[in-house]
Amino acid sequence: MFAKDFVWGVATAAYQIEGGAREGGRTPSIWDVHCRKEGAIFNGNTGETACDFYHRYKEDIALMKEMGIGAFRMSFSWNRILPEGTGRVNAAGVDFYSRVIDELLNSGIQPYVTLMHWDLPQALYERGGYMNRDFAQYFAEYAQTVAKLFSDRVKNFMTFNEPQLMLGAHRGSGKAPGLCLTDVETAPIAHNILRAHGKGVLAMRAASKGHIDIGMANQGCFFYPAEETPENIEAAKRATFEYRLPNWYSSLPWYADPIYLGRYPEPLLSRLKKYLPENWEDDMKEICQPLDFCGQNFYNAYRADENGNQVAEPAGAMYNAEHWNVSPSGIRFAAKWLYERYKLPVIITENGMCCHDWVSLDGKVHDPQRIDFMQRYLLELDRAQREGAKIGGYFCWSLLDNMEWNLGYRPRFGLVYVDYKTQQRIPKDSAHWYKKVIATQGESLREV
Ligand code: NOJ
Repeated sequence: MFAKDFVWGVATAAYQIEGGAREGGRTPSIWDVHCRKEGAIFNGNTGETACDFYHRYKEDIALMKEMGIGAFRMSFSWNRILPEGTGRVNAAGVDFYSRVIDELLNSGIQPYVTLMHWDLPQALYERGGYMNRDFAQYFAEYAQTVAKLFSDRVKNFMTFNEPQLMLGAHRGSGKAPGLCLTDVETAPIAHNILRAHGKGVLAMRAASKGHIDIGMANQGCFFYPAEETPENIEAAKRATFEYRLPNWYSSLPWYADPIYLGRYPEPLLSRLKKYLPENWEDDMKEICQPLDFCGQNFYNAYRADENGNQVAEPAGAMYNAEHWNVSPSGIRFAAKWLYERYKLPVIITENGMCCHDWVSLDGKVHDPQRIDFMQRYLLELDRAQREGAKIGGYFCWSLLDNMEWNLGYRPRFGLVYVDYKTQQRIPKDSAHWYKKVIATQGESLREV
C-alpha cells in the first residue's frame, strides 16, 4: 500500500516533552516566561518537567524501537544550544542532543529535526524577537551552528514549525509571548520569519557535511468540499489558496507561496501590502530557497460549500476531545493540492487526535477513537497517492502525551500514555495498532 521507503514516524517538540528546564546550562525561552504568568496556562501547568524526556530519552527511544518507528521528529531548543540566542555555544546542550541522536541512530530511527518549534530564546525576545529585522540573521547563525554540529548524523531538517501559530501567538491566541497586536505589527513579523527561513536554509546548506533535506512544517486553514462535485472541489481549493478570511495569519499560502513559489498570494497581498516593510520584494528571492519536501501538519479542514464559503459541520459530526472537527477527506484533498501546487513530495509532519484517555481497570489504555481516526486519515492519504500525489511520509502527533502549550496537560495526544506523577509510560492500544500498520506498510489498514 505504502512504498518500502515511506517514512513512518512520530512527532514531538522540545518544550512539550523535555523538561530539564533549568539543567545543562539552558536559559529560559518565551514559553518558560509565559507559563509563569498567572492564568496564562490551563491549571497553571508548565513545561518545567514535562515528560522528563531530558532524563528518560533512552526509555522513550526503546519504546519507539519496539513499535518499529522509522523516524522521530523532534525539535532542538535554541536556548539550550545558544543560551543567549547568539554567540556562545553551550557544550552541555549540544552533548544532550548528540546523545539523543546517537541513541536514535543506534536504534535504527532517523532523526527529523525542527530548528524552532515556537520556543524563542527569551534573550532574543528581549532584543525585539521576530519584530527585529535582525532576527533573520540570528536564526541563520543558529541554523549554521546546528548544521555544523549535527549534519554528519541528521539528514532531515525543518526550519520552523507552524509559522501560522507563531503569528497567532501575537494575535491573542493565548500562546507565548501572549501578545494581541494588529496587522500593522504582525505582517512584518510574518515577513521576518520567512526571511529567517530563507537565510537559515542558505546557512545550513553552506555549513552542512554532505547532503541534507530541508523543509518547513506548515499549518494552514484547509477547506474540504461538502459535496464531492467538481464545482465544490474547485471552490474548496480556491478558498484554501485564495484565502479571504480576516485571520490571514492562519492561512497556508501566506507562508507556503513565498517559500515554495517566491511570491505572496493574492488577494491577501493586495490587502496587506501596505504593512510590509519597504522593499519587501527584494527579500523574496532569498525567502524562496530550493526545498526537498513539503512538510504539512494536518489535523482538520473546514467544510466549504460550492461557493467556497465555510459551512457548519452536519449534526452529529466527529470531534476530538478539544472539539476540533474530524475531517478525513480533508487530508486527501490537502495532500493532492499541495503536491499539485508546490511540486514537492508531501510529508505529513503531524497528524493525530487527542482523546479522553485514562488507565482502565485492566491497567491498559484503550483508545479506539484514535485508532479509528488514524485509520481513516491514513486510508485517505493512501487514496491521495493512488490519485497521483507523491507522499513521502507520515508522522503521528505524538509519541507521548505531553504539554499542549496553553492547554497544559489536559489534551492527551500520545500513542503512549504518560502518568505525570510517576512518569510511567503505558503504550496505548493505538501504539500496538500503529506497530502493525508500520510492519505491514499500511496493508493492515484495510482490516476493519
Ligand atoms: C501543532 C503543534 O505543532 C504541536 O506543537 C501541537 O501540540 C499539536 N499541533 C497539537 O495541537
